[in-house]
Amino acid sequence: MRLTRRDFLATTAAAAMLPRMASAAKTPGFPQDFLWGASTSAYQIEGALETDGRGPSIWDTFAAQGRIQDGSTATQACDHYHRFREDVALMRAAHFNAYRFSVAWPRIVPTGSGAVNAKGLDFYDRLVDELLKAGIRPLACLYHWDMPQALQDQGGWQSRAMAGPFADYARAVTRRLGDRVKDWMMLNEPNVVAIFGHGLTEHAPGLGLGEMGVLRALHHQNLAQGAALRAIRAEHGDARLGTVTSVQPCRPETPSDSDRAAAIRWDAVWNRVAVDGLLRGAFPDVLADKMADIVQPGDLAAIKFPVDLLGINYYSPNTMRHAPGRMFEVGWGKAPTDRFTAMGWPVQPDGLYEVLMEFKNLYGNPATFVAENGAAYDDVVSANGQVHDSERVRYLADHIAELRRALADGANVRGYLAWSLLDNFEWAFGLSKRFGLVRVEYDSQKRIPKDSYRWFAEFVKQVRGL
Ligand code: FCB
Repeated sequence: MRLTRRDFLATTAAAAMLPRMASAAKTPGFPQDFLWGASTSAYQIEGALETDGRGPSIWDTFAAQGRIQDGSTATQACDHYHRFREDVALMRAAHFNAYRFSVAWPRIVPTGSGAVNAKGLDFYDRLVDELLKAGIRPLACLYHWDMPQALQDQGGWQSRAMAGPFADYARAVTRRLGDRVKDWMMLNEPNVVAIFGHGLTEHAPGLGLGEMGVLRALHHQNLAQGAALRAIRAEHGDARLGTVTSVQPCRPETPSDSDRAAAIRWDAVWNRVAVDGLLRGAFPDVLADKMADIVQPGDLAAIKFPVDLLGINYYSPNTMRHAPGRMFEVGWGKAPTDRFTAMGWPVQPDGLYEVLMEFKNLYGNPATFVAENGAAYDDVVSANGQVHDSERVRYLADHIAELRRALADGANVRGYLAWSLLDNFEWAFGLSKRFGLVRVEYDSQKRIPKDSYRWFAEFVKQVRGL
């Protein structure tokens, strides 16, 4: 597929953004090797849930329990398992030089432990070769939420025993792909997994265990991550290893002591347990008492690891208020903006600057990349068959401007990957929320590049000097 500049300019909203971004692109700030692309995850796009020996995952169970809001399933999703070549072509046409995908654990170890399924590995082998052929650097994530059901049946992240199976899985994948894939991310958003899947009931496995359930799931993911990082490092000296976390500034709704304390507590749970554990081998003070019931001698040393690259997912900040009786006694106040996405998430681009600067100032400026950033909107296909998603264009442009500001102020950011390449299965929301640069018509599996895709493609082209 070829996109001409004329195609691009034909999209009015995108064209309106171009002059501003084009001139911005000429200002120094984005290094030549900066990574530009998109992120996806296996469960959200692949479909083919029963193909080539894949085993069941906790999200299959969750869907079968009728817990997806629109009643949809990921059985087909974007059928990426069969259409990955077309999807890589879309990335290539958009001038991407990087792509983050996830490997489905239940394809590789269908029963959670023991036998490795070679056919599952074959799929990622084909995908990686296709990416490399297109000049796109693959960044592979090992756990984007699809735990094999067999492991959940043994306790899942509530159990310390996941570290062994996770490290074995990591070894199997990197032995097969490590000659070509050099960037390995361990987990995606362990905080979201712990909070929504273990503390609350919105995500699989939907346990609703409250505070201690959250902290246990966080700690055990940290331990599994530490084990996998060491297992991979032992065999792949040249790999760039890291993980991906969701980082959201936690701002108090009012200056009251109680709202400020709530913001500090939620910052600890949401942002710090995963990152401080990994980078500092420590936990936030405010959680020390609770963590003491979970952490065993030696754990902190097993969690800390000198990672090479940290992925940061940023969507919006949290406006926090004190809410007695709720988990961690926190609630959400009104965000100071009138801009909201179709998820109801406030659009506050300055939060991205804040987050990136925080990594510089609090953690010694490690190498980071924006591993996810994007927005769901209620897209409409116009009479001419196009999707004029000007709000998404604006969202991306505003966030990239904040990224540039952070870079100019010395943040060690190495890339920006939009969420997401395609509309996809948005977890508990099913197929009803569309985050893609490319629309997917689920019945026909037709891909329709949106204005945002054209805008981003043109921007990347300019900024890469192509
Ligand atoms: C992130 C997830 C990703 C997607 C986006 C919208 O929390 O990592 O899979 O659902 O949100």
